[in-house]
Amino acid sequence: MVDTGMNSSPDMITSSFPSGFGLQEAAPANGREAVTSRNLHQERWQDLLHVNRDLVAQSAPLLVSGRLTKVTGLVMEAVGLRMAVGSTCWIELPNNRIEAEVVGFAGDKLFLMPENDVQGLVPGARVIPSEPVRTPIAIGQRQPPRRRSADLARHLPVGEHLLGRVLDGAGRPLDQFGPLSESKSAPLQSRPINPLERAAIKDALDVGVRAINSLLTVGRGQRMGLFSGSGVGKSVLLGMMARYTSADVIVVGLIGERGREVKEFITDILGKEGLARSVVVAAPADTSPLMRLQGAAYATTIAEYFRDQGKNVLLIMDSLTRYAMAQREIALAIGEPPATKGYPPSVFAKLPQLVERAGNGAEGGGSITAFYTVLTEGDDQQDPIADSARAILDGHIVLSRRLAESGHYPAIDIEASISRAMNHLVSPQHFQQVQRFKHMYAHYQRNHDLISVGAYVKGSDPLLDSAIQLYPHMEHFLKQGMYESERYVSSMEKFSELFPNES
Ligand SMILES: Nc1ncnc2c1ncn2[C@@H]1O[C@H](COP(=O)(O)OP(=O)(O)OP(=O)(O)O)[C@@H](O)[C@H]1O
Ligand SMILES: [Mg+2]
Repeated sequence: MVDTGMNSSPDMITSSFPSGFGLQEAAPANGREAVTSRNLHQERWQDLLHVNRDLVAQSAPLLVSGRLTKVTGLVMEAVGLRMAVGSTCWIELPNNRIEAEVVGFAGDKLFLMPENDVQGLVPGARVIPSEPVRTPIAIGQRQPPRRRSADLARHLPVGEHLLGRVLDGAGRPLDQFGPLSESKSAPLQSRPINPLERAAIKDALDVGVRAINSLLTVGRGQRMGLFSGSGVGKSVLLGMMARYTSADVIVVGLIGERGREVKEFITDILGKEGLARSVVVAAPADTSPLMRLQGAAYATTIAEYFRDQGKNVLLIMDSLTRYAMAQREIALAIGEPPATKGYPPSVFAKLPQLVERAGNGAEGGGSITAFYTVLTEGDDQQDPIADSARAILDGHIVLSRRLAESGHYPAIDIEASISRAMNHLVSPQHFQQVQRFKHMYAHYQRNHDLISVGAYVKGSDPLLDSAIQLYPHMEHFLKQGMYESERYVSSMEKFSELFPNES
């Protein structure tokens, strides 16, 4: 712009040029002098621009900020800022700063939730919006338009370099391997996949657990729930699947559970070999509800990244209930009315948003097979979170306290569990045998008391007779040690051996 101006109207520039630059001394007398004068012109303009550029660089940028007006419990109120829900900011303190997220607003007031502790906050502290960190623009790479809420959401690190790492809900390493090296990042909230573009679930996945492989076959890209009361074996079963499932990458989200279990999961369950192909995101119970929500979203974001690279990902989330509880804590704190059993409506909207992100990508691409644990408080299968999760997942594996108490592990309640994609994954003959297995097993269970007191007379019910005969084999088939794996093919073979006359 400067060049054009100079060439087109040198008089105007001369007149607006600061006095003392001596332009009038270089009045052109002939052609050669005119060239010299123009060079002089250019040099002096360039000098001036350089000086100004340095001055601009030295100046402090204009910082938009608001003020903290109220803190109650975990919710903070701020005024003086106009920020979108979901955007992040930091609160300036004399010696440090606290990161927070906008979780709602009322009139001019913004409701903020801290990422960690609110210790040290003072009235009137400055609140400064922070821009999401984005992947640097590379030459030749098309930048998608930033119109949707996902584009404005917080961006956290993703990439191959996360394999073998343990991170917190904000993408900070918790292990001893130093800071993350690369700067690729992705939004915590992704764009929904067009349901018509999703590949169908059609390949069975080997999860290494006999009872699941044969009776509750899981497909690549399926999302399953693991339901039970506390201490029945959800985490142990998830661990078995983490160890034995054939997947390219495993992403583990340990959300709201005991901190002790994080280390146990990494050292005892995954082991060195397992960890090398895994990324662990841990937001245990003692972290803020925001961190727990973010941890679950981040684990899903990482899984999505690997799926988009064409990988078959296993996503393990322990637990979905704690995720819902974190959302309940936040929603209640900002004044949302509780609806079902103390859970506000937003909880039931958040669950499908998270779960729908897992599953298959486009045809020929990668997949995310996901297992979410769901705590059914007091073994109540009608718990609102369990009910909602059952409706949005593609199947549920129910663990029974009765079985666990009798030492039957994994304590899968075959009658109550279902894999909704199974009929597309196995042969019709196998599917029929599974129905028969369930029928006999259930029939035996219903008559168990009669049989055990010797009140049943052999021959009065032919189905029960065969169930009694088959039951020890069925039970033996369903039990499996914690450190024992059973491949898909041999699970199927052993299953059909139970029905020798029908194969
Ligand atoms: N397959 C198994 N074989 C032997 N013992 C098991 C098995 N699964 C679970 N257990 C026993 O049950 C205990 C509780 O299991 P786990 O921690 O997996 O329960 P949970 O359902 O995840 O509990 P919470 O809801 O409290 O997280 C284990 O510490 C272990 O002793
Ligand atoms: Mg557990």
